Amino acid sequence: SSKRSYTIAVLPGDGIGLEVTPPALRCLEAAAARFGFALEFRSFDWASCTYYLKHGVMIPDNWKALLQECDAIFFGAVGDPARVPDHISLWGSLLKFRREFDEYINLRPCRLIPGVTCPLAGRAPGSIDFLTVRENTEGEYSSIGGRIFEGTERETVIQNTVFTRVGVDRVLRYAFELARSRPAKKLTSATKSNGISITMPYWDERVAEMAKEYPDVKVEKYHIDILCAHFVQRPHTFDVVVGSNLFGDILSDLGPACTGTIGIAPSANLNPTARKTDAEWMPSLFEPVHGSAPDIAGKGIANPVGMIWAGQMMLEYLGEKDAAALVLSAIENVLGGAKARLQEEGVDVLTPDMGGRGTTESLGNAIENTIRSK
Ligand code: NAI
Ligand code: MG
Repeated sequence: SSKRSYTIAVLPGDGIGLEVTPPALRCLEAAAARFGFALEFRSFDWASCTYYLKHGVMIPDNWKALLQECDAIFFGAVGDPARVPDHISLWGSLLKFRREFDEYINLRPCRLIPGVTCPLAGRAPGSIDFLTVRENTEGEYSSIGGRIFEGTERETVIQNTVFTRVGVDRVLRYAFELARSRPAKKLTSATKSNGISITMPYWDERVAEMAKEYPDVKVEKYHIDILCAHFVQRPHTFDVVVGSNLFGDILSDLGPACTGTIGIAPSANLNPTARKTDAEWMPSLFEPVHGSAPDIAGKGIANPVGMIWAGQMMLEYLGEKDAAALVLSAIENVLGGAKARLQEEGVDVLTPDMGGRGTTESLGNAIENTIRSK
């Protein structure tokens, strides 16, 4: 039998994206070696501002074919706002990939890791463990609308929300399946049907309809405003939380923020129904939540955990569940054991954003070694 093998497009991008990618690749390699599968990394220098400044475009003409040859996309961070405006760098790369590959799910885990200071008081590691599922293609972020009577007293501006049955049902289907796969089997839906009286009742209707197919999943819904309060006040009660593009955007920043620093948060942009045998393959993309962090770029102190954890989500997506579990437990062990290690060995692996004096390399190496040795 042939060895399981995956081809990964690696796009480090700009700034700290270039610094957190190498340790993350080493961690993935280590996990692959342990579980007997192969990873072929294809690294590209495009989707970066450096490439843009040299070539006048963010990506080459054949970008799509190059990415479609791969099983998944591993993306660092793009942006160099001092030299290239953000709308050019982001729309010319990341947002184009998300759109062209119809990555309709944005998934983020919110998990309180041992050793990470929780901004919420009195929370124990493990007590917060939920996922936010954001609709990533339609909803409030439509470009339908316009302005009339510009510059006059009658100046009028309208932007429409677009909910399609296909678009709403596919994100709900994914969220229900995800909830079903987890021990708590609970789904929370974000709504605002008291204020937004056409589209949000429709969203609620689709949730209720689909809930009939998932009698084993507990379903609850909250208006977005009180749901934000609940994220802060009782985050331990959530399991899978699903929202439209706008509500999901808010929740997918608030959720990870409730569990620690932006440097550790990962994110997946998924087209979960795409198959390699389809007429056109739509690969999914895995990235840290953070950007290129120009303020600390080049100093070697960027936290690599967000990128490593994004790689962990990619392993999960590729079906390598054991390898994914090992990477997550290595992250937890290293961060949870960091204080003891500092006391016993005098080695600080925590990067400055986590209150330590560690470096990208020391933290990355510690996680890699843990994966190799466990
Ligand atoms: P940012 O996430 O790059 O940085 C925000 C703050 O968090 C900074 O103080 C930074 O030093 C810190 N930080 C971020 N990641 C860190 C890490 N791994 N370790 C330690 N500290 C970390 O967001 P900002 O400053 O708003 O944007 C900078 C550039 O990144 C812009 O060009 C922006 O457009 C781009 N960006 C790109 C994203 C992407 O590629 N998905 C996402 C967000 C921003
Ligand atoms: Mg956001």
